[in-house]
Amino acid sequence: MENTTPKPERKKVMLSGIQPTGVFTLGNYIGAVRNWGNLQEEYNCIYFIADLHAITVRQDPAKLKKQTMECFALLLACGIDPEKSLTFIQSHVPAHAELSWVLSCHTQFGELSRMTQFKDKSAKHADNVNAGLFTYPDLMAADILLYKPDFVPVGADQKQHLELTRDVANRFNNLYGNTFVVPEPYIPKAGAKIMSLADPTKKMSKSDENVNGFISILDDPGVIVKKFKRAVTDSEMEIAYREGKDGINNLMTIYSVITGKNYEQIEQEFAGKGYGDFKTAVGEVVAEELRPVRENFERYSKDKAYLQEMYRKGAEQAERFARRTLEKVYKKVGFLPR
Ligand code: TYM
Repeated sequence: MENTTPKPERKKVMLSGIQPTGVFTLGNYIGAVRNWGNLQEEYNCIYFIADLHAITVRQDPAKLKKQTMECFALLLACGIDPEKSLTFIQSHVPAHAELSWVLSCHTQFGELSRMTQFKDKSAKHADNVNAGLFTYPDLMAADILLYKPDFVPVGADQKQHLELTRDVANRFNNLYGNTFVVPEPYIPKAGAKIMSLADPTKKMSKSDENVNGFISILDDPGVIVKKFKRAVTDSEMEIAYREGKDGINNLMTIYSVITGKNYEQIEQEFAGKGYGDFKTAVGEVVAEELRPVRENFERYSKDKAYLQEMYRKGAEQAERFARRTLEKVYKKVGFLPR
């Protein structure tokens, strides 16, 4: 008898990474990590800590090591379950650096020169414009292409790197035959670019010298509310999402993502109220949203043995996937097997 039961569809694969360069900001959380947790049921997810990327900027070795452990605990605290999602540390899987070399031989100098992050970072660290900073997008392409994901959930600032990944993957496939899956970016409609609270024309970033510009996801509730109360807005009075109202628009985006209310509902909720009331309300919902993250983080960071067990397991599994792709690539380019 013919079997008419439809075949279960293969779960799509999601992959993303984050640098261990300090406690995540509310920008990292809203633009990326919060969604990573939510995607785990529907997709096969792969998340990693991009420590190889972090050394494109000079790091204090002891601090980097500590931050990498903290970063792993933070991912778990934000809801990533290492039993459900493949979670690991980039430098534990050598294939990332190995594939990156091959991809860099298939990327043009001109393409890398056009990357806005390279231009920004080389202006910011003019005394250390190293080759790694320049070829960073090829390492990122390797991170992605090794695992054949369908989607890459990131904030808007990573879009250009993903376009380069797609270009390099297509080029390689055209030259050597189908090898890589060409991934799609998965950028949230709201919150893909959370702005600084001190200067809402600039992206919120952990490297901001002004600590009032960013919310760190482990900030105390009191500090969070205080930073929001100080947030730079405009000299108008109306809480409305409109062009030119960068500060208010940013606060409305944050409030909307966290409460699930749309801009119209927020405008109604705060009709006749002042900026002060609104800023306090945003601060309070953010502090409440981050309460479990802070509590989970405290719990996980006390259990180093569990963290180690999880990232070791993750690396072993990641290694198997990554090796398979790398071997295929080596064969395609003509390397003699050992
Ligand atoms: P990183 O560590 O700078 O940031 C991690 C994620 O947070 C997002 N993000 C933001 N989203 C909204 N508003 C903001 N203000 C904000 N700031 C940061 C970023 O878009 C990112 O999604 N190169 C990457 C890490 C990486 C990676 C990868 C990502 C390495 N390999 C492969 C995806 C796939 C980076 O430095 O992210």
